[in-house]
Amino acid sequence: MPNDLHPETRAIHVDVPDLGGARPLNTPLYQTANFGYDNPEELAEAINRPESFAYLRNSNPTVRALEDAISSLEGAAASLAAASGMGSIHTVLHTLLGSGDHVIVQKHLYGGTFALLKDLAARYGVEVTYVGGQDPAEVADALRPSTKVLYLETLSNPTAQVTDLPAFFAAGKAAGLTCVVDNTFASPLGCRPLSMGADVVIHSSTKYLSGHCDVLGGIASFTDADLHRQVWSRSLETGTIADPFAAWLTLRGLATLGLRMRRHHENADGLARFLSQHPGVDKVHWPGLPDHPAHALAQRLMPNGYGGVLAIDVAGGREETLEFTRRLRLVDRAVSLGGFKTLVQQPSATSHRSMDAEGLRAIGITEGTVRIAVGLEHLEDLKADFAQALG
Ligand SMILES: Cc1ncc(COP(=O)(O)O)c(C=O)c1O
Repeated sequence: MPNDLHPETRAIHVDVPDLGGARPLNTPLYQTANFGYDNPEELAEAINRPESFAYLRNSNPTVRALEDAISSLEGAAASLAAASGMGSIHTVLHTLLGSGDHVIVQKHLYGGTFALLKDLAARYGVEVTYVGGQDPAEVADALRPSTKVLYLETLSNPTAQVTDLPAFFAAGKAAGLTCVVDNTFASPLGCRPLSMGADVVIHSSTKYLSGHCDVLGGIASFTDADLHRQVWSRSLETGTIADPFAAWLTLRGLATLGLRMRRHHENADGLARFLSQHPGVDKVHWPGLPDHPAHALAQRLMPNGYGGVLAIDVAGGREETLEFTRRLRLVDRAVSLGGFKTLVQQPSATSHRSMDAEGLRAIGITEGTVRIAVGLEHLEDLKADFAQALG
């Protein structure tokens, strides 16, 4: 698709195979584990190339269509789809980091990535320095001769901290680091980190990209085709490629990404404003509120919206918080985000359970913190459910 089209349009008009003049309007589902060749030499060549189709662990045309669509949205040279967001993060970090290497990471981090880094440290002696994400000088201060990677998130989970991506990437590039960012919470329509200096962008496509709470997936996009190939080789070893049906569902979801992201943002913004006035809520974490520390930065980096995740600190303690979530009727208690239904979860007991109390405090999570993944319902129905549950 031509790059001068708007991203919302490119998410709909993805490239489809031409069947001798007739083009299917949707990407076909190639649910096949292997591909046959008349010429054995061609097969021998295909099995070694990420561009060719030989065996499903290597690649697949439906998976490729998804990869190409995300490359177009992120402005990448190539992308690699995986069976889950953690599959993408795992293969990227295992490719970039070896024994004794050092990585600089923002401390407001998805719990699964935190657990992976802890494991890399314990098993292979990978050294990790956590930085606040407020001041790019932190990168220079943390540098060591062994530093290889700078790892950030566009919007952090669950308190929606925003890191000044262009400034941090500039500091990382100046030191020769590979800059990686998890862009799951913003989506490629909210933020395009490769245009700000990142080398690798990762999404859990389980979330906004697929958008219907029915698929698990991940995708990593690269500016450098060589790095893509290295991570592809790693993915061959780990067997983390996306299943074609999951890729197909993700492509189907992608077509409505523009509409959905607008509604997620509007609902989250409306709910955040409502909850910020409610006496049962101590604090609302949403970058759209003028008193959020990253309000101006969020407007600069994500002019089209900040997705649909916000967090609240419920007044009272653990019991009041449990009681509040129990009383919700329309909104369900469930992990994950980015689907059409609004969900709540307590990060300290779910997504961030691998962190100890001190680590949680350092990133502003208490036992009263509830993450709200705002869906696509009518805003007034959401407000009514939260109002009755808060009492
Ligand atoms: C920001 C972020 N990155 C990565 C992941 C992992 O994705 P997946 O669950 O698809 O493995 C999640 C999952 O919640 C997430 O929130």
